[in-house]
Amino acid sequence: MGELKARLASRNPGKARELEHLLPSWTIEPLAAEDYPPENGATYYDNARGKALFGRALAREDEWVIGEDSGIEVEALDGGPGVRSARSGGTDPAGWLLGELSGVEGRGARYVSELVVVSPSGEEFRGTGTLEGRIGGEARGTEGFGFDPIFIPKGRDQTVAELGNEWKRDNSHRANAARELLAALREPR
Ligand code: IMP
Repeated sequence: MGELKARLASRNPGKARELEHLLPSWTIEPLAAEDYPPENGATYYDNARGKALFGRALAREDEWVIGEDSGIEVEALDGGPGVRSARSGGTDPAGWLLGELSGVEGRGARYVSELVVVSPSGEEFRGTGTLEGRIGGEARGTEGFGFDPIFIPKGRDQTVAELGNEWKRDNSHRANAARELLAALREPR
């Protein structure tokens, strides 16, 4: 694929930079929108697609549009908070989750990211990615956001917040979703 201009339907400019790194030759700017639709779909895919289609209506005709939704799924919470992650834990999601898991078995966890891209002609592509791991016993590290200070990826001893943003850029659930998305875009249509 050649040079491609895209708008990300998200308020998070960090995500746009992260995706730009993962999608070489794409220029990705966040789409300024006052009223994003509420993220109350039943799945990450519903929410990601909702954001992308909302963005489609606002973006220029020659621009691609990207919607992303993500969350964390914890074994002891039967896969929760999952699609409701952004609304769980208030200003201290890591502290909230540690409290929920206090004295409980089942610290296995995974991050999930869903990306939906809509082309200028309205064609849709998707990519899903996960990062498997477990919830540690205490918050450690300063980088990343949300649950990163307590999320320890499989095969590692450090939390994502300790491994840092550079590690995250290439190894996160979003990185894995972007790889799957690139593969989908390269498939002959
Ligand atoms: P979104 O921005 O609507 O996709 O919300 C995702 C929510 O899931 C965030 O508010 C976090 O609670 C959690 N989450 C998703 N990705 C990450 C991550 O990379 N690190 C930490 N928390 C994450």
